[in-house]
Amino acid sequence: MSRVAYVNGRYVPHRDAQVHVEDRGYQFADAVYEVIGVVEGRFLDEEPHLDRLDRSLKELRIAWPIARAALKLVLRETVRRNRVRNGLVYFQVSRGVARRDFGFPKRVRPSLVVTARATPPVSPDPGPGVAVITVPDIRWKRVDIKTTGLLGGALGKQKAREQGAYEAWQVDDAGLVTEGTSSNAWIVTAAGELVTRPTGNDILAGITRETVKKVAADLQLAVVERPFSVAEAQAAREAFMTSATSFVTAIVKIDDKTVGTGKPGDVARRLRVEYLRAVSAAEPFA
Ligand code: PDD
Repeated sequence: MSRVAYVNGRYVPHRDAQVHVEDRGYQFADAVYEVIGVVEGRFLDEEPHLDRLDRSLKELRIAWPIARAALKLVLRETVRRNRVRNGLVYFQVSRGVARRDFGFPKRVRPSLVVTARATPPVSPDPGPGVAVITVPDIRWKRVDIKTTGLLGGALGKQKAREQGAYEAWQVDDAGLVTEGTSSNAWIVTAAGELVTRPTGNDILAGITRETVKKVAADLQLAVVERPFSVAEAQAAREAFMTSATSFVTAIVKIDDKTVGTGKPGDVARRLRVEYLRAVSAAEPFA
């Protein structure tokens, strides 16, 4: 089946979907985006993702390209036209097209692009778990804004792949883990506490992170928001990552050190199952 993309008001064949060479997203990464998971025809945490888009747009003083309710229809229609029951929807808003100049153009219309892609159905089973490597966090100082300026993360992920790992955990100058290149980082201490870095300008406030916090509370698991070091993570009972596309994924190796038993731990296992149960309460649309 041929894929379809939405570009500034039109549904077009994916292979022909284009933005202008002077789009500020292309030239300056002057653009923000969101990724929402689709599981069995349901969006995962749609409203919080739209709230975060609103925040990112406000931080950069970019207007909504279309009204929120209209965007929700476009997201559904793009998913429907691509026949995605399991997968993700990607949407990006740039400041728009203008002659290249660092300052903001006076009159400009934001560009909106939406794509959707199918992935294999998600399993509540954690599988064997994944390995992560650690890399210095070389990103800019406002990674709380979900911009398309993702080169720091792209370099980290590429290094992970080249070393046979699934993700790279980025580490600040103090040796503390900030987050994965496209996920938030968590550990479980010997005392059974879940630890994840507090939100601030130095990490993205993950939507999955927030939902997992609620799921953990329902399971009476204690969550402590504080930074942790690479050494603490390697010695932890469990480690895992969260994101819209990886849900809750157990981490069994950090650099050359095995975490816990080297198999997904009970906490990550339960959180994955309960997270998928919690988000599947939404109304299906596809
Ligand atoms: N990435 N941290 C970073 C740097 C991310 O890029 C992401 C998501 C997350 C997790 O956020 P959420 O739970 O809201 O997906 C944390 C998406 C999936 C991406 O860029 O593809």
